[in-house]
Amino acid sequence: MPPTATTTAPLPFAPAGAVARIAAASRRTQQPQSGGDLVSLAMGEPDFDTPAQVTEAANASLRAGRTHYSPLLGEPALREALAEKLGGIAGTPVSAADILITQGGTAGLAASILGIVDPGDKVVVPDPTYSLYADLVNMAGGVVVPVPLAPDLHWDLDRLAVALDGAKLFVFCNPGNPTGIVHGRAELEALAGLLDGTPTLVISDEAYADLDFTGRPFTSALSLDGLRDRTVYCQTFSKSYAMTGWRVGYLWGPSPLIQAAARIHNTFNGSVNTVAQDAALVAVRTCDADIARMRAEYEARREIMRTELARIPGLTLSSPEGAFYQFPRYDLDLPSAEVVAALRTTYGVAVRPGGEFGARGEGHLRLSYAADAESITEGVRRLANGLADLR
Ligand SMILES: Cc1ncc(COP(=O)(O)O)c(C=O)c1O
Repeated sequence: MPPTATTTAPLPFAPAGAVARIAAASRRTQQPQSGGDLVSLAMGEPDFDTPAQVTEAANASLRAGRTHYSPLLGEPALREALAEKLGGIAGTPVSAADILITQGGTAGLAASILGIVDPGDKVVVPDPTYSLYADLVNMAGGVVVPVPLAPDLHWDLDRLAVALDGAKLFVFCNPGNPTGIVHGRAELEALAGLLDGTPTLVISDEAYADLDFTGRPFTSALSLDGLRDRTVYCQTFSKSYAMTGWRVGYLWGPSPLIQAAARIHNTFNGSVNTVAQDAALVAVRTCDADIARMRAEYEARREIMRTELARIPGLTLSSPEGAFYQFPRYDLDLPSAEVVAALRTTYGVAVRPGGEFGARGEGHLRLSYAADAESITEGVRRLANGLADLR
């Protein structure tokens, strides 16, 4: 006898408070998949393949039977290689004991924020910024304090000084998503000055550190004496190495902060995929030329996008200093989500609404140049048509 369907009463379930807090405050949107005639300038990931030697390392690792649990803090060889790399960036020796391998940058951010923030703690973030930070702070029960950026999308240091008073934590990314701005040494030194003598901690998310087009060497928060001792450095293999799907990232910071993050990370994730860590080790050791190759390509595409955008009336361009984003302001009196929806459905181009990244992102669009040159030219052409019609 086939089973007969029975009607059951709806499950009396309400999600936990953490879920409700994230849902109530989150600005994150699910992007539609590209397809048909849609040109996507919406993606936050490289369109390059992972370098071949990295993929081959994963194959070799599998063939060698490396299919067992990895140590909870990560593979020792990978942590040693990263300690050496970070020592070069910091200009002072870095201990592998203070490195935690994470499930991508996302889990590194989650582990560090949940390891630091208690309910009611004040956490300052720039507005606009990468929207995950606020969701994680809300998950922890903390209070997000968004600080509007200056008109040039750099930090407004006066506002930041006021907001940082009594803050447990300041979280930022450099280079910036969605702004494409690079916060240079002077700006970071000013931040260190504001924090001097306070117990406020910092998370510096440097996911796009290899994509700095300012012509000056990139300054990591790690390299500043005034920041290093209070900062968790968050990094990922996703962007520099075109490894978004591999899900490997890492944290470095003062021991007690890393131990706290490790406790959370181990509880949520267990250990990180062994094969992916073996591949990541080969990436650290062998990919400098690949990073340079992809970087040169992004730089050329950035120029194409900038030139094409500059032709569009009513758009105020941002300085495309780093990452692979441009964040122009438009002069229509329409919310960015509405502009983006119209551009996608009627004009066949996908971009991200500035409002997704904070209230002060409204009036902006985020365009990614991690797309090929042809898509950039065609996408910006469609954007121009759309904006002209919406006027
Ligand atoms: C600034 C920033 N940090 C972290 C991440 C997350 O990286 P992952 O893919 O390693 O989780 C992203 C992804 O878009 C990002 O833009």
